[in-house]
Amino acid sequence: MTSLYDEVQTPTEGVPTRRITVVVNGEKRTVDVEPRLLLAHLLRQGLQLTGTHIGCDTTSCGACTVLFDGRPVKSCTMLAVQADGHEVETVEGMASASELHPVQEGFKQEHGLQCGYCTPGMMLTSKALLERNPNPTEDDVRWALSGNLCRCTGYQNIVKSVLWAAEKMRAEQGEDA
Ligand code: FES
Ligand code: FES
Repeated sequence: MTSLYDEVQTPTEGVPTRRITVVVNGEKRTVDVEPRLLLAHLLRQGLQLTGTHIGCDTTSCGACTVLFDGRPVKSCTMLAVQADGHEVETVEGMASASELHPVQEGFKQEHGLQCGYCTPGMMLTSKALLERNPNPTEDDVRWALSGNLCRCTGYQNIVKSVLWAAEKMRAEQGEDA
């Protein structure tokens, strides 16, 4: 059990906390949090998973996107207590010990990033898309990523990266069949 206060701030006397358990990247984490704490701050400061970026804090940019029970959510818009009993995946959970996730590989192959600030959110949203639609059109990719903004404006290559990953995942599934 970790006290978030150990890592983020000195406990404020009199402020109530709540103990929550969240499965983060496959690992059960139990922490005491203030009810007002955002999920993005729990991940970044409490659990040191700084791949979850914060760009706007207003649900606009998608830099803070994580998968919540497999669905993309903006973690700057959720309270940490809402994640109690749920599963969260961050960009740190995408690769296995020995290889990148095909979406990560796609971003590498097709140069889908410039500064990289939007990239974790873009990749997690793309992963969720490909899990529900293994054969997306370019329009499907653009629609799925419409809540994720790239301030470097590298959208063309981001879309190519996701289509590259889709093709690779289909080929791998064909091999497994
Ligand atoms: S930081 Fe959450 S949407 Fe921008
Ligand atoms: S690569 Fe810079 S914000 Fe997208």
